[in-house]
Amino acid sequence: MTAKIIDGKQVAAEIRAELKTQVQQLRDRGIIPGLGVILVGDDPASKSYVTAKEKACEEIGLFSDDNRLPAATSQAELMARVRGMNADPKIHGILVQLPLPKHLNETEVLLAIDPDKDVDGFHPMNIGRMVLGQKAFLPCTPHGVVQLLVRSGVKLKGAHVVIVGRSNIVGKPLASMLMQKNETANATVTLCHTGTKDIGYFTRQADVIVAATGRPNTITADMVMEGAVVIDVGVNRINDPSKKNGFRLVGDVDYKAVKEKAGLITPVPGGVGPMTITMLLFNTVESAGRTAHD
Ligand SMILES: NC(=O)c1ccc[n+]([C@@H]2O[C@H](COP(=O)([O-])OP(=O)(O)OC[C@H]3O[C@@H](n4cnc5c(N)ncnc54)[C@H](OP(=O)(O)O)[C@@H]3O)[C@@H](O)[C@H]2O)c1
Repeated sequence: MTAKIIDGKQVAAEIRAELKTQVQQLRDRGIIPGLGVILVGDDPASKSYVTAKEKACEEIGLFSDDNRLPAATSQAELMARVRGMNADPKIHGILVQLPLPKHLNETEVLLAIDPDKDVDGFHPMNIGRMVLGQKAFLPCTPHGVVQLLVRSGVKLKGAHVVIVGRSNIVGKPLASMLMQKNETANATVTLCHTGTKDIGYFTRQADVIVAATGRPNTITADMVMEGAVVIDVGVNRINDPSKKNGFRLVGDVDYKAVKEKAGLITPVPGGVGPMTITMLLFNTVESAGRTAHD
């Protein structure tokens, strides 16, 4: 069997088109959804993420308040900036680009963000609400994975989903989302990690495998049931002298071999990646929509 490819770019474009319509409806009512963005320092990767996020905002009609602060910014200055955004009615979502420079206390900054503007979904209040099955801003990457599955017609109710990787930003929240008793979840979830004795024992029983380890080839073809759905969250740079920049991106799945066995699979790049920013936009529009109903 050769797997059908889940095209993350296409699903992301579909959601962004829906969001653009919602933004226009909010604008017609005098509400311009706004995302406050804070970047501290000159890390090139962080700069390019922030630029991509701001460009995506512009494309769907969101207002973004760009705050690029010097690397020497103090904790007090950063906290004041966050509090200012908490109080600003034009700002519906706040994004503090991580990682912060080493002298800054990341936890303190993330805790200072108003949970009702926490569009990254990292605040313990949102994590708690999510686990309890209450309305919450869902963390963007795992939410993107759920949307990819649902919009590709994967039946999650009763499915066995095996997630490999238990980080706070991907594996743990994804497990929590997929085990909820609701229409877009209701799966049986197994979470594997470096303490798991035989990961293949679990993945071979999986209707859906999600790999989020940051290690190439964590999932090989012998670990996959014929026809399973395979979602690859991983983004890893490996040396490739044939490329101009000397590297190429691969996921956590042995894509070439697993593609011949799976029923559906995401590529890297072009699978989960495009969904992450899209779900940030989704949360910001959702937040602005909530103020419209206040
Ligand atoms: N596309 C996107 O938008 C997006 C967003 C976020 C992350 N990512 C990518 O997704 C990957 C994971 O990111 P992350 O932030 O979740 O990583 P992380 O914080 O490093 O966590 C990795 C998790 O995988 C587990 N793990 C590592 N190697 C393993 C192995 N050989 N077998 C089983 N489990 C293993 C670790 O287990 P322990 O807990 O036992 O150490 C840990 O729970 C990375 O490649 C990252 O770049 C992509």
